[in-house]
Amino acid sequence: MRILVTGGAGYIGSHTCLELLEGGHEVFVLDNLCNSSVEAIKRVKELSGKSFEFFNCDIRDKSGLRAVFTKARPEAVIHFAGLKAVGESCEKPLEYYDNNLGGTVCLCEVMQEFGLKNIVFSSSATVYGRNEPPLSEDMPTGDCSNPYGRTKYMIEELLKDIYASDNSWNIILLRYFNPIGAHKSGRIGENPKGIPNNLMPYLSQVAVGKLAELSIFGDDYETPDGTCIRDYIHVVDLAKGHLCAINRLEQSKGLEVFNLGTGHGYSVLDIVKAFIGTTGVNLPYKITPRRAGDLAAVYSNSQKATELLGWSAQYGIERMCEDTWRWQSNNPTGYED
Ligand code: NAD
Ligand code: UFG
Repeated sequence: MRILVTGGAGYIGSHTCLELLEGGHEVFVLDNLCNSSVEAIKRVKELSGKSFEFFNCDIRDKSGLRAVFTKARPEAVIHFAGLKAVGESCEKPLEYYDNNLGGTVCLCEVMQEFGLKNIVFSSSATVYGRNEPPLSEDMPTGDCSNPYGRTKYMIEELLKDIYASDNSWNIILLRYFNPIGAHKSGRIGENPKGIPNNLMPYLSQVAVGKLAELSIFGDDYETPDGTCIRDYIHVVDLAKGHLCAINRLEQSKGLEVFNLGTGHGYSVLDIVKAFIGTTGVNLPYKITPRRAGDLAAVYSNSQKATELLGWSAQYGIERMCEDTWRWQSNNPTGYED
């Protein structure tokens, strides 16, 4: 299939492009590089041994999108492009609504103009809000605690409304849990700009000596060791989930929602111990007060993806730590070296 990947230079997008190329698909990447580097594209080409076109374009630029669609003639879109920093979304909500929501409206309008109605969208476990885990697709959504999360919820609703108005669209909403890890080559991985907000990039930057110490946000939650529990999923497993979603789009019509998680929860301390255990690296850490907005436990029921997409996560927590460390230690300054 000819697949346009918006945000394809980013962390999950680059890993997905590699899996799509290896799965025999034709890939076209569209990204404005606001949170990524063209070096990631180069490395995906190097790893796959295949060439593909990259369009430096913003999803809010309608005429730019039209030019891309005319050239690439995609049969499906995987839509990763978006801003994703929770804290920043609270400080700059308009930027998030404009980029994520406005950008998706623009993208869907151009898709409609070109008669292209196949889309896979990157949603997030954040749409479940305070539901009790394990979280499953039929639970109510929308109780999000920040503007970033609300853009994900609103985009889901927008896509549902498009489908309700025209059921010849084929839409898959993928709700990711916590992606970590990197490709086994150590050539592509997560490359956050500035000081990382998320646990794994922060922890690996401490391990490589870029940051002094990891703060563990709270050890007084109602969990076995008092630290928060999340469903960490290897980014390559997540990327493979997109390949399954594309296969599903080809076979089955309609709008469907799938969780992509492992179904297992690990605490922050579990992750720290697994990282030290698998890498042998020194990792200074301290317990600090809770971070506002964090939930005690978030993990998936991912049975639906297993049953209908034929997908399940293969990699465990040790492998996630090993691959994160290979990427971080080989590229201490990310793509900048
Ligand atoms: P990322 O920042 O690495 O990738 C997003 C890409 O989109 C970047 O390359 C960025 O340059 C591009 N982009 C942003 N705005 C754009 C615009 N207006 N036009 C064109 N390109 C634009 O993030 P990621 O971790 O790879 O996440 C990919 C998607 O998955 C995002 O939509 C994110 O919200 C979603 N998601 C991520 C996580 C996570 O923890 N990483 C969890 C759930 C959902
Ligand atoms: N944490 C620390 N120290 C840090 C960073 C994080 O202790 O320096 C803790 C957090 O308190 C939390 C856990 O590690 O308990 C995971 O935190 P992350 O920031 O890595 O991930 P979140 O679960 O908060 O959120 C992530 C994404 C969201 C997405 C959500 C579900 O940032 O965008 O996963 O997919 F919505």
